[in-house]
Amino acid sequence: MAVNNVRHLVNLALIGFMGTGKSSVGRLAAEQLHFDYLDTDEMIQSRTSRTISNIFDEEGEAAFRKLEQQLVKELAARKRTVISTGGGLPTIAANLTSLKTHALTVCLWASPDKIWERVRNQTHRPLLCGPNPRIKIGELLAAREPFYRQADVLINTDLRSAREVAQQVVHQFKLAQPVRNEGNHPTTGA
Ligand code: S3P
Repeated sequence: MAVNNVRHLVNLALIGFMGTGKSSVGRLAAEQLHFDYLDTDEMIQSRTSRTISNIFDEEGEAAFRKLEQQLVKELAARKRTVISTGGGLPTIAANLTSLKTHALTVCLWASPDKIWERVRNQTHRPLLCGPNPRIKIGELLAAREPFYRQADVLINTDLRSAREVAQQVVHQFKLAQPVRNEGNHPTTGA
């Protein structure tokens, strides 16, 4: 897709699996760009006054996905915002299509081992609360890879700090901005 012709890249959206650092990188990138920062999970939790685990337990994953989809539609009205998304959000094609109309989409990638290392002591993710979370990570990641690969930019986070990843993200965002003609006349080469 021709990035600058048909899209208005006023926002930056981070997608990727759980534990790839979307929230920490997103906050740092927002700071550097002087953008607002928004996290889809946090928004859903504050709007419903419930935790993600509670929504999954009481209404199921499908209900959570509907809340995500509704929110994604609203995000099209945002400007100058870094949006960190829940790991399963881009598995619904319409979500990614919608994000791409107004945001550069950057996928943070990590290997299953690295993800496991980062999430193993956390308990707030319902999809990893089953009997064998390490195996679940491998299966889910493989199933979702085709969706994550549709991002405009893919960054491997395995060997990089959040700060380094944020710098790359910001760099990519700046590269994707249309070149402004600020009164300079193009040279003719003559
Ligand atoms: C999910 C990822 C979580 C959260 C929910 C479902 C997923 O967000 O949206 O638990 O399906 O991968 P994070 O990626 O921020 O952990």
